[in-house]
Amino acid sequence: MDITIRKAEILKTNKSYWDTYADFWFGTTSLPEYGVHFVTEDELHLFGDVSGKKLLEFGCGSGHSLKYLADRNAGELWGVDISGRQLENAEAYLKEHGYTAKLICAPMEAELDIPTDYFDYVYSIYGIGWTTDLPGTFRKIASYLKNDGIFIFSWHHPLNYCVSWSCSEGGTIIENDKLVFMKSYFDESYFKMPVHGSEVILCNRKISTYVNALAQAGFAIEQMIEQTDEQTMEAAGDISDKAKKAKMLPISFCIKARKSHHPGL
Ligand SMILES: C[S@@+](CC[C@H](N)C(=O)[O-])C[C@H]1O[C@@H](n2cnc3c(N)ncnc32)[C@H](O)[C@@H]1O
Repeated sequence: MDITIRKAEILKTNKSYWDTYADFWFGTTSLPEYGVHFVTEDELHLFGDVSGKKLLEFGCGSGHSLKYLADRNAGELWGVDISGRQLENAEAYLKEHGYTAKLICAPMEAELDIPTDYFDYVYSIYGIGWTTDLPGTFRKIASYLKNDGIFIFSWHHPLNYCVSWSCSEGGTIIENDKLVFMKSYFDESYFKMPVHGSEVILCNRKISTYVNALAQAGFAIEQMIEQTDEQTMEAAGDISDKAKKAKMLPISFCIKARKSHHPGL
């Protein structure tokens, strides 16, 4: 299939999912959390002092991360999201707390009416991996940032989708069960994932794909985090399968990068 048609189909499917299930995801995967069972912004302080700063979120969802930064005196808030329903929720949620943001309903891959060389921070909490054009999206983010501007994002760790528990007793994890590779780490092809009787279309990019795309877009990586939170690491006994997995491998990862030069769009 023509790649442009395929990308359009992916965006349509994902937009439809997020419009339908916006209320279900209200307030999830948002700052201070970078991901489930993961160290938080309250511990990592990747943002530092945001007072008076201009911030733009890609995949801003219900606006909870924008509100977290508004509470810390951010100067200007912008958000981009493919889902109109998510943005309706974000607008109402921010208004309820006395904040406003410039919200743009569009895929992050699109040509957007966003000022260039303008933002102190661009960030994305479990949003960036939805892009169908990672190199292009990173180049756009670099163009929106001021020189020395910061880009922070978190997403599924690629190992998480490759490895599953081998359950030998009717789906229940028993002692000595193993984590096994169900999918190649090198497989970056798109796959359909059933969710809530609907589906989303995703791909599982390697860590090196993110690192190289950042470098090509003119970013210098300052920090990469692959760290399960302490509470999960110390949990024992009757804990969820996901928590058991998070004790063995990172479920999420997070990168802080700085715009070091502008290679042009
Ligand atoms: C897990 S949610 C992020 C939640 C957000 N961090 C918050 O604070 O509420 C992922 C968001 O990405 C959006 N999204 C999915 N594909 C997108 C795309 N191609 N461009 C822009 N947004 C997209 C979805 O609509 C959804 O709101």
